[in-house]
Amino acid sequence: MQIELSNERWSDEYFKQEREKALALWPTGKEVDLEEAIEFHLSLPDSKRYAKVVRHAKQEGRTLVQPRGGVALIDDHIKLLRHLQSEGCADLLPTTTDTYTRNMKFEGAQRGIEESKRAGRSMLNGLPVVNYGPKVVRQVVEAVDKPIIALSGTPFPRLTSEVAIAAGFTAYLGAGISYPCSYIKSMKLEDGIKNYQYLDRLCSYYAERGVLIHREQPGFLTGTLIPPGIGVAVGALEVLLAAGQGVRHYSVGLTQNLDIVQDVAGLRVYEEVCQHYLHKAGIHDMFISVSTHQWMQAFPPHEAEAFSVIVMGAMIAVLGGATQVITKTSHEAIGIPTMEANAYGARATRKAIDMMRKRRLPIDAEVKLEMEMIKKEAMAIVDKVLELGDGDVAVGVVRGFEAGTIDIPWAPNIHTHGAVIPVRDATGAIRYLRTGNLPFDKEILEYNDSKIKEREEIIGAKVDYEVACFDIQEICRPCVDMEAAVNDLSHCMDA
Ligand code: 5AD
Repeated sequence: MQIELSNERWSDEYFKQEREKALALWPTGKEVDLEEAIEFHLSLPDSKRYAKVVRHAKQEGRTLVQPRGGVALIDDHIKLLRHLQSEGCADLLPTTTDTYTRNMKFEGAQRGIEESKRAGRSMLNGLPVVNYGPKVVRQVVEAVDKPIIALSGTPFPRLTSEVAIAAGFTAYLGAGISYPCSYIKSMKLEDGIKNYQYLDRLCSYYAERGVLIHREQPGFLTGTLIPPGIGVAVGALEVLLAAGQGVRHYSVGLTQNLDIVQDVAGLRVYEEVCQHYLHKAGIHDMFISVSTHQWMQAFPPHEAEAFSVIVMGAMIAVLGGATQVITKTSHEAIGIPTMEANAYGARATRKAIDMMRKRRLPIDAEVKLEMEMIKKEAMAIVDKVLELGDGDVAVGVVRGFEAGTIDIPWAPNIHTHGAVIPVRDATGAIRYLRTGNLPFDKEILEYNDSKIKEREEIIGAKVDYEVACFDIQEICRPCVDMEAAVNDLSHCMDA
């Protein structure tokens, strides 16, 4: 049985058929026993349930620290998570999967496990959860005191989510527009959406039995200066897709561009935009929290500079009232961080959050204007998707990408137009050098152009493609005068 793409909740029959196919992909699929898994989840204390911890923090206006991390061998992975918990002061624990797992190359992951055992160190860039299977991965859940999220940057989440959730992980990252756009060259949006409908349908199955799995939308797309209007639009669409499968607990993410005013403005309007469309769809009981990702682009190799990026990220999180901040490390420019470096990134973030004392950025005229403009951009994109889909958001997303009315800058996926080019303005906020086919009205376009003109006046030259390329490398360059970097390109190009 095949189904047409739509935002309808999958029938029990179709879901069962798809589950059988997914669980047959690797022998450990047979170990997934939903009834046993539900019993295990229900036995967990609240402190190990992601959804509970996040809800509590949101209620209290606290920002939770969520590092990433994963290594090849179970014992080493346990050691890593315990270290992140005790030395990194992490509130939420990660399990990043390796690249083989993300691409369903489980034989490769198996070789990675064997090689890691021989080498006595991790030869994979994450934990191959499918190869270990739910019984073994459960040892990780039992060895720590905090909730765990599965982080698997993949357009293929089906089997991995079955195993990870059956093991006892209480949260799962990823969504059907952002991951297919950012992690794969040729997958059709339709297939990406279906793969994440599977995951959302699975979470809804657990929820019906009293087990609330925290679903999290990644927000980071390609990681290259994503204008917040696009980020918020994609998040809102992915909320609607999850809701279609019955999910009622969801977290939307946004990447930091390191412009305090604009980053905070994006975080401040995010939930409101999502709830607006949920209400329009007749859904009034969706819990939403907002997460912010510390800088997702090229990091400075100098560790002191990397810590600046990290700490500024912690401040943006608090100023913008985010419930979760996903942390980076001072090893980002080099590769996978050591356990110690990983904990340092989380701990530096924790300390800055504590010192911020829940201070929010006051909403003055400038912040307000940014909030309004982000809302307008995001809603223009989402409204067009809904119009193109004749009310069905899943169909609308596919048609929107075909038309380029929704578009992701520098995405590797060939089904995105890639016609949108972001660039910074004179203050550092992200604007559009090119808006491609985005359905922006005169007001949005004129505001954008006026902001770009301000930078042109300062640099005395056109803001062009070369400037846009410079902007994506700016932060990773060694210490530069930021004002000069943004406003005097010639100075920086020579540097
Ligand atoms: N350990 C720690 N961090 C990781 N990341 C990816 N894999 C790992 C890992 N095994 C982080 C990197 C990357 C982001 C998507 O996740 O910071 O940029």
